[in-house]
This record gives sequence, structure tokens and C-alpha cells, in this order.
Amino acid sequence: MSPQSFSVAPGVAEALGRFTAPEPLGFGNVTAPVMFSAQFSGGRWGSGELKPYGPIDLLPGSRALQYAELVFEGLKAYCVGVAPWPNLFRPLDNWRRMVRSAERLAMQPVPVDLFLQGLDAVAGACAGIVPRCSSQALYLRPFLFGTEAGYQLRNSSSFRFMVIASPVGIYSNEPMRIAIERSDVRAAVGGIGAAKAAANYGAALRASAGAAARGYPMTLWLDAQEHRWIQELSGMNVFAVIGGELHTPALDGAILAGITRDSLLTLARHLGYTVHERRIALDELLAQVRSGECTELLACGTAAIVSPVAVLADVQGDEYRPQRVDDVACRLRQALLAIQERRAVDPFGWTRDVAPFAGLAGGNAPWHAHIYYAPDQHGRAQELQGRLRRLKDSGQSPVLRFIGELRDGKVGPHPCPQFEIHFTQEQLAAVRDIVRESGLTTLVHPLTYDDLADHTYLGTWVGTPIELDLSCMDPPGINQGFARFGRTDF
Ligand SMILES: Cc1ncc(COP(=O)(O)O)c(C=O)c1O
Repeated sequence: MSPQSFSVAPGVAEALGRFTAPEPLGFGNVTAPVMFSAQFSGGRWGSGELKPYGPIDLLPGSRALQYAELVFEGLKAYCVGVAPWPNLFRPLDNWRRMVRSAERLAMQPVPVDLFLQGLDAVAGACAGIVPRCSSQALYLRPFLFGTEAGYQLRNSSSFRFMVIASPVGIYSNEPMRIAIERSDVRAAVGGIGAAKAAANYGAALRASAGAAARGYPMTLWLDAQEHRWIQELSGMNVFAVIGGELHTPALDGAILAGITRDSLLTLARHLGYTVHERRIALDELLAQVRSGECTELLACGTAAIVSPVAVLADVQGDEYRPQRVDDVACRLRQALLAIQERRAVDPFGWTRDVAPFAGLAGGNAPWHAHIYYAPDQHGRAQELQGRLRRLKDSGQSPVLRFIGELRDGKVGPHPCPQFEIHFTQEQLAAVRDIVRESGLTTLVHPLTYDDLADHTYLGTWVGTPIELDLSCMDPPGINQGFARFGRTDF
């Protein structure tokens, strides 16, 4: 599926341009200004659309509302520091899990291309608002729901797949305070606990609210049959460090198979830890925390990555505090986050580039590149211009335009010598490859954007990162900087 096979609704550029993120970001409080939507009806998926975030049409009798016919996913796009473009963490695993969830609820699964397209569309459009500090990210929430209205208890024949997003900061600065839930049950074997289905979260709300009121924002769930074996937390999996080794409940059909959990199992082994997936009895674990044999507890999930646990509280108020807080957890979090943020080598092939964004005017918006060069790079700039010109002359690039001659002085608002080109969406990959080879610093953005926003938006998409003095750029709302160079079509 090519990047421009989804459409872009009017208002997307404006919505992105208007967006400002509050400080501090917090987790899950801010909604990204765009969303992706595709419909399944008449036995086929229609094409997707990127739109400004806003209300959707849904019949009150739709099965999503009446029978909780809704499954979802959660993953993050990272673009930390000088990273040129956002990347996703294990998106195919989220897709596989969403297929399993959909199948468990007899829903129409989302094809892999559509799933990735939705993520790429939202993360690509939001590239400029993905927070860039370590531990920050764009949280992506793909979801699928039944839209057919009716009261017969059966699955829908029409569905909608959507992706919404939220720029997020650190999940929590505090080690977790967890309440053990001994009465309510989140999920039973044979039920839908292993699916990421909205209904599971509804089942957790009463206990979560009660625990939060007692000062414990997280709930630990036990198995439904014996109320004896630990399962997971409401939105995270759990590990214990016992005798220096890592233990986590084995997937029992009711536990959600967390992608972070799976990543930690692999990473911890890679770092030399012995790891066990097994049934863990609550009473045994509590005794081990008391005796000091269990030194540490940690929680893991996309939102928090790896979170330390300060205390486990039983219903009568007894508190169990592991001797160590954020020791192994910290080591694992740092190692995993470094891979997710591409600050470390990814030996497992877990990260994946967000596809280049299709442009904001339906895929044919002209793109604009500023190619910067230092005075001693004049020769390289000339060579690059030559290559780009040959691309244009080859006839493959009928609308490639050069703007401005190669001049070695500081031009207009730009901080150093540069030349500029315009090209179409179709030429994006070819231009990118040629420009990348040159090693010259380059800024690329769709022309539909405001100049200042662009430079933060698509910043260093193609070349090596650059430090731009934004104070010498045009103010927001003005995109006339280019006109000052005089447009010259070669
Ligand atoms: C119930 C539950 N368990 C575990 C997890 C952790 O899963 P992941 O690591 O894929 O985010 C989540 C979060 O999605 C969850 O909701």
C-alpha cells in the first residue's frame, strides 16, 4: 500500500498548525489534533482518511456501544533528540495482537497494510509534535469497533478502524502503589482477558476506583477460579525479582500478552538474567517479599515501559514493601528505552521507521527542501545540484524545480548558504536517496505548512541534524520567505 493511498481531509494542516502542547505533558491528557479512519462494509475495507480530530458519527444502537464490540491497541512513536524521523516499536506485534483480539470477539480483523497505514498517517502527520525528550513519545491508540446497529446479540457486519494519538510524557514519577484485589475478577480463562478488548477494562473499573480511593492507583488481579494466582495489573504485566532471578506469571489465557513483557523476557535474558514464566501464588509471593527473598517488584507496559513498585497492599490494609525499588527495573527500563528511542543498537529488529508522510493536500502537495552547505562544502553542493538536475532531465521528475542559484552567502532568513528544490510526493523517495548520499544537511517539508512550523515539523527529515536559529526565521503564519529568493524554474 503506497503512502498516499489514504486521503487527507481539509483542515488537517490547520489543526496541526494550531496545536500547542501544554507543559508538563503528563500522560494521556493531551489529544493529538489528527485521527485516521477507515470503514469496513459490504464485505470490504474502504480507503483510509486522515482528518482533524473530532467527534464521529455512530448510531446509538451500534454494537460497539450496546455490546462492547471494541478492541484496541496501544503503542508509541519515538523521535528523541536529533532523531530525523519518528519510529515505532514492534508495531507488527500490536497488529498481530489486534487480529487475535478481533478474532476472539468475532470481529473483522484489520489488514496489516491498513493498520500500518493508519499508524504511519497519524505519526507521520504528527512528526512535528512528537515530544523529543527521552521518556516522551507519541502514544498511538488504534482501535476497531462494530458500527452495525441492532439488538440481536451477534457480531456486526460493518466496522470502523481508527487511530488517535496523544503526545505523552512520563507515565508516573512515583514508584507504584498497588492494591491486591481479592473479590472482583478482571478476566477468567475462556473469557476475553487475553484480548485487548474494551470490556476487560470496564470489568476493572470498580476495583480500580475503590483502590484509588484508598491511595493505590493500581490493582493487582488474581485468577478467577481460585483467587490464588497473580495475573497482572489493570494495564500492565508484572515481574518479581526472586533470588536475583526474574519471575513473571505464565500466560494462562486470561492474561494480556504484553509486548513490553515479551520484550523484557528477551532483553533480560540477553542481559544475563535467568527468567521464569510460571504460575505465581500470591501468598507465596507476599511471604517472599516479607522475608526479603523477593527483593523487587516491577510493572511493565507500553505506557510506563518498566515501572518500579513501592508497595503491595492487601485488603485489610497490610502493606508489603520490597527491599529494593527501581534497581533491576531501572536497568531494564534504561536498556529497553534506549532501544525504543534508537539511542542504542536494536539487536532484535524491534524498531521500525514511520513511513514518509504523504503530504497534506492529498499526496500531491509539493514538497520543499532546503539544502544547506558550509562554505567548504560548495563542491558537494554543486555535485548534488548536478545529480538532482539529471533526475529532472531524465524526465522522471517533470515538476522538480530549483529555486535559487548556488550562492555561497547567507540568504534570506537562512542561517547559512543553501539551495532549494520543489518536488512531488512521487519524487520523495528518489530525492531523499540522492540527498542522503550527499551527506548535506537538508530540511524537507510539504509546502502547505507554515514556514516556522515546518522547520520544527519535519526538521531534519533527510540529512544530518542541523541547529537552526529559529529566531531569524519568518514568524508563524507567514510563508513568504521563499518568495524573497525569486522563483527560478530551470
Ligand atoms: C491489561 C493489560 N496488561 C498488560 C498490558 C501491557 O501490554 P503492552 O506491553 O503491550 O503495552 C496492557 C497494556 O496494553 C494491558 O492493558
